[in-house]
Amino acid sequence: MSLNHRPRPDKHDPASLAFATQSVHAGNEIDAGSGALRTPIVMANSYALPEDPSTLSWSGTDVPLYTRNSGTNQLGLQRKLAALERGEDAMALASGVAALHAIFFTVLKAGDHVVVADVTYEAVFRLFNELLPQKYGIRTTFVDAADLDAVRAAVRPETRLVHIETVANPTTKVTDVAAVARIAHEAGALVSIDNTFTPPPLFRPLEHGADLVVHSLTKYINGHGDAIGGAVIGSAELIRRIKLDAMVDVGGVISPFNAWLIMRGSVTLPLRMRQHCESALAIAEFLAGDDRVAYVAYPGLASHPQHDTAVRQLPNGFGGMMAFAVKGDKAAQNRFVSKLRVITSAVSLGHDESLIVHVDNSGPRVPAYPAEFREFGHLRFSVGLEDVDDLIADLSAALDDTFG
Ligand SMILES: Cc1ncc(COP(=O)(O)O)c(C=O)c1O
Repeated sequence: MSLNHRPRPDKHDPASLAFATQSVHAGNEIDAGSGALRTPIVMANSYALPEDPSTLSWSGTDVPLYTRNSGTNQLGLQRKLAALERGEDAMALASGVAALHAIFFTVLKAGDHVVVADVTYEAVFRLFNELLPQKYGIRTTFVDAADLDAVRAAVRPETRLVHIETVANPTTKVTDVAAVARIAHEAGALVSIDNTFTPPPLFRPLEHGADLVVHSLTKYINGHGDAIGGAVIGSAELIRRIKLDAMVDVGGVISPFNAWLIMRGSVTLPLRMRQHCESALAIAEFLAGDDRVAYVAYPGLASHPQHDTAVRQLPNGFGGMMAFAVKGDKAAQNRFVSKLRVITSAVSLGHDESLIVHVDNSGPRVPAYPAEFREFGHLRFSVGLEDVDDLIADLSAALDDTFG
């Protein structure tokens, strides 16, 4: 490839950098005081004011002022996330659900109508099924977001927001984000996409028509299972509103330490995602080939109901998340998990280590889940960075132990 067509890369100008270079440099500054190459953790809640503070807005979020608005580590992380998702600006908060709530709190008002995918992270379902309708009269239509006719039928002139997950937790249902965005925009609604399962470089929803992207930073972007955070990325104007309403006036900000950890973790995001995708595909194929396994839901398998959409939308890999079950009842799923010696039974996902969690699906979401999820429950499996042969050997031995 000729280098002549590329702008000269400059680590101070993230837009000039390829993704791997952004992952290393974006948002990081050499510390002016110490010369440290990495922005230090700045454990201060307040910053020195200029000689004439009357020019400052106390709600300002752009320059270090007060750590609820704009701490040093938070500002650096926000710059990096905006670069990685190719948005104009980003806002980091203390958790993924704080980031989700920040969107809903800012763009919705009492009585608004919202279209929400029928499979999403559990807290989103509770917010739209119980809390927001009960407290603010928000009216929600849950829809199969993979069925574009159903989305078209659900969106009304008064719909304010359509919220979906690129690859849904836990069923791995894949939504055609560009198509849903077109339908929503025709009705004048905003589109927010939870991209936690497929962070860049796998997918960038803003490039496919989304207005806002939300991440649980706790997951792949940090990647090491040692910090909690969340973020919203989008246009400067939308992020300005969300920062003012949901960050400055409601709080829930990320701590400097968590912001610093996530900055460090995200340096290896491209390398990690490549390995998560490669290992997950090999493992999904292994599981799908074993007749003691009841089903495997992974977008990279030809058997996945939205495989074609996944192939078009996720050309760089299908992510590290899958759901499956072994043949048998709840006790069989628990027995299988108890036999694993490398893969750990725990919630969360996107960590360096493989995590599996058995969910028996007797909760309120069951009607939206595929029949096999309802029959067997599911094992949500976050494929980690261990040697893939060790992971397959662990799964294989646990199958042997479970079925004798
Ligand atoms: C898709 C998705 N979105 C949001 C969240 C919430 O993130 P957090 O736990 O950081 O609040 C999760 C957590 O599992 C998730 O899986």
